[in-house]
Amino acid sequence: MPEAKTAKILVVFYSRDGSVEALAKAVGEGAREAGAEVRLRRVPEIVPAAVMAKVPGWEERSNRMLAEYGAPTLDDAEWADGIILGTPTRFGNTSAELKAFIDSLGSLWFQGKLNGKAAGAFTSSAGPHGGNETTVLSLFIPMAHLGFIIVPTGYTHERIVQGHGTPYGASSISGLNSAPPTAADLEVAKHQGARVTQVAAALKAAR
Ligand SMILES: Cc1cc2nc3c(=O)[nH]c(=O)nc-3n(C[C@H](O)[C@H](O)[C@H](O)COP(=O)(O)O)c2cc1C
Repeated sequence: MPEAKTAKILVVFYSRDGSVEALAKAVGEGAREAGAEVRLRRVPEIVPAAVMAKVPGWEERSNRMLAEYGAPTLDDAEWADGIILGTPTRFGNTSAELKAFIDSLGSLWFQGKLNGKAAGAFTSSAGPHGGNETTVLSLFIPMAHLGFIIVPTGYTHERIVQGHGTPYGASSISGLNSAPPTAADLEVAKHQGARVTQVAAALKAAR
């Protein structure tokens, strides 16, 4: 793989309890270490405030993350050579919050602006069989429509071979007590950031 000095990577994520945020930071770190310029963005809430108020900490964490990372824009998406999307597993699928951002990309789709950029996806679920693989795969569907070159993690890192993350994208299992990603999960996430960066740089160089 060529050096990736000039690749621009956008990491867009949604997180309420912090697991996907931790994975997103590791993905960004891996991309940076591979030479990328990185933007980390957190999509805004769409559920009613009454729902957010039901669980202690949700509103505070949401406000903190939005202030820290800012919300993604269409300019961010156009700027990037590669986009990596992260979501909590929601009923075996992508969160509505992240999907709302994806559904805002229609004008870029219409102009073919995302065509040929690299993309990857990662998730966190409560259970090991709670749908983390289906969630990452669910993100591959709009990525295909948008013309992205989808970059799965494959078994390209020893931690994935050992059973951490998935061959589709990085993941963590938070259980019933919102356990943060393990060191091995974060290693896979960093690897994913580097891998998408390398492919994004190669695609950019070939254009
Ligand atoms: C509405 C809702 C639906 C969820 N659906 C699933 C699910 O289908 N499978 C699962 O394992 N966990 C499910 N979870 C748990 C989250 O995916 C899990 O806690 C995840 O680690 C949260 O990520 P975060 O810490 O970044 O918010 C659900 C949580 C909520 C609030």
